[in-house]
Amino acid sequence: MDSYVRIFDTTLRDGEQSPGATMTSAEKLEVARTLKRLGVDVIEAGFPAASPDDLAAVQRIAAIVGNPEADENVPAICGLARANEKDILAAWEGVKDALKPRIHTFLATSDIHMEYKLKMSREQVLAKTKEAVTFACQLCPDVEFSPEDAGRSEPEFLYQVLEVAIAAGAKTLNIPDTVGYTMPEEFGALIAGIMANVKGIENVVVSVHCHNDLGVATANTLAGIRAGARQAEVTLNGIGERAGNTSLEEVVMALKTRKAIYGLETGIETTQIMRASKLVSNYTGILVQPNKAIVGANAFSHEAGIHQDGMLKNELTYEIMRPEMVGAAKTQLVLGKHSGRHALKNRLEELGYSLNDEDLRQMFDRFKRLADKKKQVTDADLEALISDELYQPEEIYVLDGLQVACGTMGLPTSTVRLCGPDDQMFVHAAVGTGPIDATYNAVDAIMQLTSNLQEYSVHAITEGIDAIGEVTVRIQGCDDHKSGLNPQQENPIARTFGGYGADTDIIVASAKAYLAAMNKYLVATRNGGKSNKNGG
Ligand code: KIV
Ligand code: ZN
Repeated sequence: MDSYVRIFDTTLRDGEQSPGATMTSAEKLEVARTLKRLGVDVIEAGFPAASPDDLAAVQRIAAIVGNPEADENVPAICGLARANEKDILAAWEGVKDALKPRIHTFLATSDIHMEYKLKMSREQVLAKTKEAVTFACQLCPDVEFSPEDAGRSEPEFLYQVLEVAIAAGAKTLNIPDTVGYTMPEEFGALIAGIMANVKGIENVVVSVHCHNDLGVATANTLAGIRAGARQAEVTLNGIGERAGNTSLEEVVMALKTRKAIYGLETGIETTQIMRASKLVSNYTGILVQPNKAIVGANAFSHEAGIHQDGMLKNELTYEIMRPEMVGAAKTQLVLGKHSGRHALKNRLEELGYSLNDEDLRQMFDRFKRLADKKKQVTDADLEALISDELYQPEEIYVLDGLQVACGTMGLPTSTVRLCGPDDQMFVHAAVGTGPIDATYNAVDAIMQLTSNLQEYSVHAITEGIDAIGEVTVRIQGCDDHKSGLNPQQENPIARTFGGYGADTDIIVASAKAYLAAMNKYLVATRNGGKSNKNGG
């Protein structure tokens, strides 16, 4: 059995299905580029049959990220499909331009799913598995099959389904614990049973795909790997349906840190982990909890005096991984207001960002403005500028000016100037319970959309009075009557949108974050809402 564990990232498919994680096509492309830099083996780029937008996003990723650039390793680009011809054709349309295309088709095999959801007998499920995998193999050289809800499926029947999928040509068999029900010993035993009992299993790659409903997704994935699985399906920050999927960073760092136990390796460039985690958090508006393993803000902080004392004497007393291993090293002083464009370009390249001339010009302007306000511009400041300036969603309305009056006398008032479609300028003044509420009311009035603010969070990236503030918001749309949807279409009211903004002024950062989320909401209402659920 080989000692290489393939990392199959499904941030853009299962991750994007989590509430509020909707990403624009440009954001998905950027995440895919980041995943490639991280060194994942497979990118599940989406579910092309869900909507024309999903298909277009997968096609773009396949054509751009799924093809060689210089001497980089190219990941396989995968599209998900239910076990029917229409979905499989859409998945193929999505991935066919990639150098290594993959179709991932799935069908439920647990009694409860077959009886209530599929309304199919075991014989029908066996026949449909054969039909779907055969059809997918006629289109694509690399086909993966998943028996959905395998964790609750009867093992003997599961073996039969897997044998049918192998005989029909599947190269990877993925075993999902769809509802996050199994425990590590149980899941490990399920994989061991498959390895021992399924005919032809030695000719395919066995994969594991776990959900975190009982908080054991990483433990289950590792148990599956110990039992013989050689592909792990994971997401950055563990985002995904309900309690999420297995975290990429946890599995990769467990295999690396405890190599003596597992004796296995992955192709992940671990120093890129922190950056990738932050990008996904900014785009989705889903914050990483501070105590999250590997990528949480506190994952490498030592507060207790006794720990600090030990750390000073020898870092190994309390640290099992070095922060630099995951790209979480302490920020360093890098640039100041006398630094030139060349120094900025070099530093950004060291951080892993290669910008084209136009993006570099914009970054340099912003850097100079920041350096005028701040004496020391750190790596963290640069990362915030990058996220804020270059990786924003489609900007229909852009902040052009903001003035607030607040305090204990009079009503908090905000005057907002936005540049809208066709470069039209809009100015509106509004009051609110505080300066941020007033600003958001003014934005709503200009954009003629209203939303419920579900989550707002602000934090300073660096220390000191002149630190950049980062704001993340999540909003829920509530303007169905203005969206122009007909009643048959999915209503964007049910969806949440995330936004991110950074600035030395936190009201400005708050306005930018809100506008980023509102622009996504506006795009969704214009598209008539889109479904990104796989519907199993
Ligand atoms: O959780 C699940 O079962 C899935 C399948 C589509 C693999 O995401
Ligand atoms: Zn899943």
